[in-house]
Amino acid sequence: MAKTKKSDDNLMEKLVSLCKRRGFIFQSSEIYGGLNSFYDYGPLGVELKNNIKRLWWQEMVQRRDDVVGLDAAILMHSKTWEASGHLKSFTDPLVDCKKCKRRFRADHILVPTSAKPDLGTMKEKPKKMPTCPECGGELTAARQFNLMFKTFMGPVEDEGATVYLRPETAQGIFVNFKNVKDSMRLKLPFGIAQIGKSFRNEITPGNFIFRTREFEQMELEYFCEPKEAKKYYEYWLKNRFDWYVKALGIKKENLRRRSHTKDELAHYAAACSDVEYNFPFSDWSELEGIANRQDFDLKQHSKFSGQELDYTDEAGKKFIPYVIEPSAGVDRTLLTVLVDAYTEIEGGRTTTTESTKDLEVVMRFDKKVAPIKIAVLPLAKKENLTKAAKEIYDQLRQNWSCDYDAVSSIGRRYRRQDEIGTPYCVTIDFDSLEDKAVTVRDRDTMKQERIKIGEMGDYFAEKLK
Ligand code: GLY
Repeated sequence: MAKTKKSDDNLMEKLVSLCKRRGFIFQSSEIYGGLNSFYDYGPLGVELKNNIKRLWWQEMVQRRDDVVGLDAAILMHSKTWEASGHLKSFTDPLVDCKKCKRRFRADHILVPTSAKPDLGTMKEKPKKMPTCPECGGELTAARQFNLMFKTFMGPVEDEGATVYLRPETAQGIFVNFKNVKDSMRLKLPFGIAQIGKSFRNEITPGNFIFRTREFEQMELEYFCEPKEAKKYYEYWLKNRFDWYVKALGIKKENLRRRSHTKDELAHYAAACSDVEYNFPFSDWSELEGIANRQDFDLKQHSKFSGQELDYTDEAGKKFIPYVIEPSAGVDRTLLTVLVDAYTEIEGGRTTTTESTKDLEVVMRFDKKVAPIKIAVLPLAKKENLTKAAKEIYDQLRQNWSCDYDAVSSIGRRYRRQDEIGTPYCVTIDFDSLEDKAVTVRDRDTMKQERIKIGEMGDYFAEKLK
């Protein structure tokens, strides 16, 4: 029976290995033994990541009349985090093993799925305390651990110089609410969108790029009248679920929506639902949260800054808008795209001699997210062929990210491109020099078409639109 992704215990191992071997993702500082939970995106990883971010920006900003963009600084005035509640409440319950000294998130030990962290806020040691999952030793009672990274601004490392690496990009939007609203003359409802790095000193990072201490967020704060908050909450929940299917080509059956229980809600949220993916390493896990943050943040910043952060409607009524926040993780989305695309074909599907019978890996990325769109392959390393192929390569890469590969047999080269999910391979053979046509091979169907060189631009514009 065919293995499903869920039943393939080694899927994550295989993906991590492929990501390193083919230049998607590397362990950070690997030559020094690596920095746990930090990753670097390689040449193909950065293309994939940029495509995901571009598709998000197109959907959320470029194609909408009611959303504008922002790129705020990572370091913000420390008062921001007092006002936002992060200094007080952005914590996880931490337990230590008295024997092996390892540290764990109490809610992960007590309730192994993040779906129901019902003891997430526990402060007291429960009656039936579990033991250390690593060595069986006795655990301490849980204490609250703040997840913000601290650093110092300027030469003096004292309390007054303390700044925090932002744990969410959202606050950069809230503190700029008035600047953006006034400069762009915005009327409710309107949104401000931002993509950027955030940092959380997670107690237990893990599962490759799923939970890391440095990560990238794609966040929208959509401001509206309080009475419309419920309507927009539902609207964004549907819109965001659909984006994963339509824009990224994620299989619908691997996605679901889940409402947070009351005790899961962040300190600012009145309601929250997650878009979840059925990852191989866990049950369903969060890809994106859609929260009703009400007027919590603007009210707090108004109070702490002494600035008016309200909105005046046509009738002259002043109020603080409510905000709906769809907040997605770039790295998690990228992991989802990788997992969803990974396909193994036992026995191979290539009919050329040396490639038969091997296990073939095809990354069936949606064409929009594929890091390389077209590979140009001269059939043989003959000067007249490589010259013609280079000309075609130079022409195509004006519009699409392309690869050029002249090394080893054509079968092997097709497989190398399948493994990085390139949708089309263009082969230049000896006939090409005569008939001015090339062979285009489709990654998924493996069908081959003969296309005139002069018509390739239109052909790919249609295929990759
Ligand atoms: N802004 C919501 C979050 O970072 O989880």
